Amino acid sequence: MCGIVGYIGYRQAFPIVINGLKRLEYRGYDSAGICIVNGDPFLAKQKGKVSDLEAFIGDRPLPGTIGIGHTRWATHGEPNDINAHPHESMNGKFILIHNGIIENYSLLRSKLEKRGYIFKSETDTEVLVNLIEYIYLKGNVTPEIAVRLALTKVVGAYGIVVINRDEPDTLIAARKGSPLVIGVGEGEYFIASDATPIVEFTKSVIFLNDNDVAVLQRNQMVLKTIYNQALEPNIQQLDIDIEAIEKGGYEHFMLKEIYEQPRSIHDTYRGRISSDPFDIHLGGLYSVLPNLTEAKRIILIGCGTSWHAALVGEYLIEDLARIPVEVEYASEFRYRNPIINKDDVVIAISQSGETADTLAAIRLAKEAGALVLGICNVVGSSIPRETHAGVYTHAGPEIGVASTKAFTAQVTVLIMMAILLGRRRGTLTEERYRELIREVTLVPDKIEKILQSEELVKVISERFKDSRNFLYLGRGYYFPVALEGALKLKEISYIHAEGYPAAEMKHGPIALIDDTMPVVVIAIKDSSYEKIVSNVQEVKARKGVIIAVVTEGDTTIKEMADYTIEIPEAGEIVGALLTVIPLQLLAYHIAVMRGCNVDQPRNLAKSVTVE
Ligand code: G6P
Repeated sequence: MCGIVGYIGYRQAFPIVINGLKRLEYRGYDSAGICIVNGDPFLAKQKGKVSDLEAFIGDRPLPGTIGIGHTRWATHGEPNDINAHPHESMNGKFILIHNGIIENYSLLRSKLEKRGYIFKSETDTEVLVNLIEYIYLKGNVTPEIAVRLALTKVVGAYGIVVINRDEPDTLIAARKGSPLVIGVGEGEYFIASDATPIVEFTKSVIFLNDNDVAVLQRNQMVLKTIYNQALEPNIQQLDIDIEAIEKGGYEHFMLKEIYEQPRSIHDTYRGRISSDPFDIHLGGLYSVLPNLTEAKRIILIGCGTSWHAALVGEYLIEDLARIPVEVEYASEFRYRNPIINKDDVVIAISQSGETADTLAAIRLAKEAGALVLGICNVVGSSIPRETHAGVYTHAGPEIGVASTKAFTAQVTVLIMMAILLGRRRGTLTEERYRELIREVTLVPDKIEKILQSEELVKVISERFKDSRNFLYLGRGYYFPVALEGALKLKEISYIHAEGYPAAEMKHGPIALIDDTMPVVVIAIKDSSYEKIVSNVQEVKARKGVIIAVVTEGDTTIKEMADYTIEIPEAGEIVGALLTVIPLQLLAYHIAVMRGCNVDQPRNLAKSVTVE
């Protein structure tokens, strides 16, 4: 978590750093700070959002062509002005911004305290900046050496940028565990936690690897490891437009991203699936396809929404390809001594490609000898770089903290994988194979149609915006959708919501149902339709209020439900993609009506780079 930005070049640094921080606010937004160098470094930091920092700075001119900035998601120490970054070393030699966690900070802090260091904040970051200074002053070494030596003593994760007062025309950046991208311009360099602050200036970027250190001056960059081994920079060209990371007229990123789904799903399958001739081609899996096809077991891992996509994946792969699948929370998997066999295939699903638990889980699986694949959205992020192979979702940058288009893109990839595996394993007839491909290509138009129900969703939202609890029910493919619908609501509106397999309702949640309890039921006409009709009756009998997502033309549920939202008829395998859309809209509108900050819900961050 936390977003960091740095600039060194010929332009004014302040606007670049502030605008960059706004783009990275999805990574944390409980406090923010900057340091601009104009001879002497000027430092300002403030509890609250980047806009609070801007207001605090006001009209004060901040000239300078070198600067760094940080937007924080607190780990050590509450969000306040003192704990905000940048942190300055006790004797003022170094100023540092940090994303990550220094796990051995307490030991390092007491060692430094014994040597006379006094700390102002409760943060692990202040320990690191003081450690660098201590080594610098005590060892009489260059700032770069001090940074590298300090980093060899640190246990944990970091993406850092360091300014030092003795060499004010140099920025030092380093990474381990937390992402860092360097943008390469003519006579200038940009540094950021992801490429979004950089793309409007340059598309040439270097993704730092773990243990890399970059020493940046206006006209030169030296890249090495923290152990002083020289490295050749690998400059890559990015393919992101600035429009893709702006709001484009929508009130919130989340709404924009909900509306982008017809296009983002199309982008996910474009060039990979075709109905003339019928074909599926996932280039990223080409080299591992024989192993994947023969896998004895597939383990899907992820966190949050990505875990919900994994659940849909389990149903898909078992249904279409008949390979046993297990779904694991990455955080549980990595710590519970799981059995991983050499002929298992582990697939990590992650929007950001940086989630700390997911990364740790894939490392564990790799060590155990499994083939490890990734389904990720952010190109060049850590998970795609550490997996043996994988598939990018191509949903475009997702900025809203509540994941929407990344989920549907992940499910789209899983659908393609399941069809491809089913085809290769002979578990699908030619006719079914073609039918499934056709289903996928019809999804964008169907979503366009579902989006037209937004006005109806607003009416429903108005009625239920003050509810204290919500229950979401679904069966089969719609159970993960129920979980996802509930997650969307709780994360952005702070209403308690639970998702349940509809039949499990009888084993507990039914006790909660009364006339104040809205129950969202995904009641699509599929193989378990009759059963879901019974579940709706059970809720009604207890005076529960039903909001049902139904198939177009349904009359049975309509008679029982208080509200129905219609979905065009479609095959079960794409059902999750369609039914999740009204649930995203419902969560969005309820949150807006409750006055919540939809794109930046409290306590959350988009990219969870700490355990
Ligand atoms: C955070 C985000 C969620 C996301 C989860 C996993 O909790 O707020 O939206 O689903 O992390 O992130 P990943 O990037 O691995 O998909």
